[in-house]
Amino acid sequence: MSTDPDVLVSVEGVYKHFPIKQGIVFKKEIARVHAVDGVDLQVRRGETLGIVGESGCGKSTLARCITGLHPVTRGRITYEGRDITKFSARDLKAFRRDVQMIFQDPYGSLNPRRRVGSIIGDPFAVHGIADGADRKKRVQELMELVGLNPEHYNRFPAEFSGGQRQRIGVARALALKPKVIVCDEPVSALDVSIQAQVINLLEDLQDELGLTYVFIAHDLSVVRHVSDRIAVMYLGRTAELAEAETLYGAPRHPYTAALLSAESIPDPDEAERAERIVLIGDVPSPIDPPSGCRFHPRCPKAKEQCVEEEPELIAREGDPADHLTACHFPVEPGESLAREQASIEQVSTEPVLPEVST
Ligand SMILES: Nc1ncnc2c1ncn2[C@@H]1O[C@H](COP(=O)(O)OP(=O)(O)OP(=O)(O)O)[C@@H](O)[C@H]1O
Ligand code: SF4
Ligand SMILES: [Mg+2]
Repeated sequence: MSTDPDVLVSVEGVYKHFPIKQGIVFKKEIARVHAVDGVDLQVRRGETLGIVGESGCGKSTLARCITGLHPVTRGRITYEGRDITKFSARDLKAFRRDVQMIFQDPYGSLNPRRRVGSIIGDPFAVHGIADGADRKKRVQELMELVGLNPEHYNRFPAEFSGGQRQRIGVARALALKPKVIVCDEPVSALDVSIQAQVINLLEDLQDELGLTYVFIAHDLSVVRHVSDRIAVMYLGRTAELAEAETLYGAPRHPYTAALLSAESIPDPDEAERAERIVLIGDVPSPIDPPSGCRFHPRCPKAKEQCVEEEPELIAREGDPADHLTACHFPVEPGESLAREQASIEQVSTEPVLPEVST
């Protein structure tokens, strides 16, 4: 348990499994999706923690656990040192004000039949905070804060562009003056030119309002400039966690190295010199993750030990205490994996079925 006052949110051994059931009357659990499968991480006050990983690795599920939208299967999440599952109704209400979420899809997350003024004003209505002319004034202030024209209060979401709709989502998230915002791929559905505008807005708001962000993205290039620290997720687990600069400069997990080598490099000469690590095969199914290190079927450095033994997420030899890597054979300085190929076939785990709390 974290008692460090700098730590705002602490995720401790968190699992979120979704049961797959079969049968019409007596539904029997036949398998589980291991969406989040043992994640430990901490979010420090005022920082931006980036979370990166391929589609389906559990980023959104983890985001929903952190914001209390999903109960966890196992493990615990603390907010300001207190377990969120043990919150009273009153604590929970305060927690829901403090911790907000911005969703991946600016189109699907806004009700098309409601006017933006009432969408942004929803949190006030739910918490019974302001009404009438006072609510309108507060909503218009929020619209101004995120760069929307307050006179567009009565318009419908369809009358706004993608970038503006994401601003509506940001305004709604800010309504209750939160401390933490979990941004779940807030720009991935937007054009590249608009992405920078929304990211700049989020950064300005962070400086102005002292916000803490968890910023989720598919690839490292999006989180590169916004994150203080970055967690790389693979198939429900944290593969590597480090200060952003360290992670980019000296990645230790072969998966991080592969993600970095796949980043597009703007300079064509540099791009030609850069050596890509090509990962073989698709991400394995989260219903039946590989044994030991779950990256072993795709890892160019895999050895027998990787099939049998799950690597711990710890500081490896020579690394600072806050650079954690879940790998038995981390990438060494100057080592290139570009010509290496994965050679070990997938060995699956026996399905582990811990008690589901919901
Ligand atoms: N409610 C649910 N019921 C069953 N399975 C689910 C549920 N929500 C997510 N999953 C599964 O859990 C796994 C992780 O999904 P999640 O949405 O968290 O991934 P993600 O990393 O956010 O992916 P993306 O980058 O595509 O948004 C996937 O295999 C997904 O199909
Ligand atoms: S533990 Fe083994 S398989 Fe896993 S990333 Fe490290 S070298 Fe690769
Ligand atoms: Mg997602």
